[in-house]
Formats: sequence, structure tokens, C-alpha cells
Amino acid sequence: MSKSHLHNAQNKLLAWYEIHGRKDLPWRNTENIYHVYVSEVMLQQTQVKRVLEEYYFQFLEKFPSFFALAHSPLEEVFGMWSGLGYYRRAKNLHESAKLCSDGLPQNLNSLQKLPGIGRYTASAICSFGYQQSVSVVDTNIARVLARYFGVENAKEAYLWELADSFLNISNPTFHNLALMDLGAMVCLPKNPVCKECPLVGGCKGASEPDKYYKVLSKKYENKKLHFGICVRDGKIAMKRSNEGMYKDMLELPNIETSFYEKNLLGTFAHSVTKYRLEVHVYSLDSTPEDVIWVAHETLHEAGISSMTKKALKLYNGVKISAEGVQN
Ligand code: ADE
Repeated sequence: MSKSHLHNAQNKLLAWYEIHGRKDLPWRNTENIYHVYVSEVMLQQTQVKRVLEEYYFQFLEKFPSFFALAHSPLEEVFGMWSGLGYYRRAKNLHESAKLCSDGLPQNLNSLQKLPGIGRYTASAICSFGYQQSVSVVDTNIARVLARYFGVENAKEAYLWELADSFLNISNPTFHNLALMDLGAMVCLPKNPVCKECPLVGGCKGASEPDKYYKVLSKKYENKKLHFGICVRDGKIAMKRSNEGMYKDMLELPNIETSFYEKNLLGTFAHSVTKYRLEVHVYSLDSTPEDVIWVAHETLHEAGISSMTKKALKLYNGVKISAEGVQN
């Protein structure tokens, strides 16, 4: 691409961002690097709307600084993350805060040494938080670049090279945000709105966008899970998960089903990450081993997953007595 073509495309992109970009997002209007970091971790797997409406401000109110986060129990961090999913993110954020008592590092390499920070998050922090001249590639930007430069089955490393070659060094931060928004709002995975795209003139993929980006259908894994509910004196028996996606969180005890068929409280479906779960919930007559007793009214503060919340809802419809659950 000639220099004049490059500058032309970069200028059109910035002009588009000026009019259409999501410039009001709070994490784009802060100089607080901790706020930028928290937003990037939340946005890794979650839609902007949910982060904005339910989590970002609440989390920052509860943990207003790195220091506050580092000195809070993990349980409380899970509590504020409850329902957001991918709980490993919360654990990593907490670990990083403990490691960075002097604040976040200011370069790509050191950032990537922190738990949960890969190349994307490190670049986003450097670009959006520190206004450094670095390129950023997330899934939206990757799609825009693959189509614009006409690359089929692009390898990640090559996309980063393309992003570097396209980076507007006179305004790298807005350039990256503009590419991100273009991917999120115009250069959509299915049915991109090419007539609204500022880059359409030079886009190799405009005539056949699907060729340069394959929409992969999600592969789900079906699983059945069985949890038991045991209540004593208004407290619920919980366990600390020691593996999998809920590692370190409180969950209901897993049980062997065959003993408890007659005690079935209910069943529900739950989708999480790649799993389609069929969850069966039973009342337990005997207490499982190694449980942690948690008062019913404090459970919601303790960071439990949406799946566990659903299971507990089944139990809420059941009368509780000091002896246990009664059907
Ligand atoms: N602005 C800055 N980073 C963002 C992200 N990851 N998603 C959406 N908007 C953002």
C-alpha cells in the first residue's frame, strides 16, 4: 500500500470515529490506569452493555484502587464478579493487584508477565491507558484487518504485523479504538454494512467478506451435573471448587445421583462457556464431608456463579427447617 493510500485510509477511519465512535464509554475517558485495566479484563469475554450496566461502576466503587483490591479477600472479589462468568479473570485481577503494589507496569513485556494478561490486554492497556504507540488486535480488529487486506485464514502473528503496518502513529489510541468500533458496528461477522464503512474504497474483502472471515459455529459439550442441598440452622453446606471453571469459588456439593432420586428438587438447563449443562438439584438427608457452612442471607455476597444461583432458587421454593430441606 502506498503512503498516500495509507494516510488516506487512516484519516477516513479517524473521521468516521469522530462521528460514529463510542467515545462516551467511561473507560475511554479516564486517566486512571486501574480503571482501564479493570474494564479490559471485564470486556475480555463480556458484552460492553452488560459490563457498563451491571459491573464496571459497582466493582470500582467496591474496590476503588489497586491497593483496595489487593487488600480485599478473594471471596469479595468473586462476590462483585458474580454472574459475569469466567471467574478466573477475577482471580487473576486480584493476583495482579497483589503483585503490583507500586502500580501496573508500563510496557508490553512486563504487563504480559502478570496473570491473565495476554498480548491483547497488554496492548490495550498500553494503547488506551498509557497512550503508547502500539497496535491492538482483538477479534473485531482482526476481522477488519483480514477483510481490508484480503487475508484468508489469517494467522494471529500475521494479523499483528498487519496492525503494525496500518497503525496511525500520529493518533494511535483513537486509531485502535476506531478499528475496534468499526468491527463492532459496521464490519460485522455476518452481513457487514459495507456501504457505511469508511474503508470500503480500499477493502479487498468488501465484495466477498465471508471469504476473509469464517463465522465458526460454536461447538457445545453436553454435561449433566448433580448438586445436593443440605441446610442446618439456616446455613447451607457449600464446598470450595478445586478445579475447572469455578475453581476457588463456593458451590453446592457434587453428589452421586443414585442415592438421591427421591429427593430431586428440580432440574434446569444452563449454558456456560462451551458447556450445555443439565443440572439436577437434590435435597440431602445427610451432611456431605468437608463442607463450609454459609448463612443463607450472606451467600449472594460470597461470589457464587449464575448456575449456583439458579440451583439455590430451586431450593428457595422449598420450605426450610432447622433440620433441613422439607419437600
Ligand atoms: N474500549 C476500550 N477497550 C474496549 C474493549 N475491549 N471493548 C470495547 N470498548 C473498548
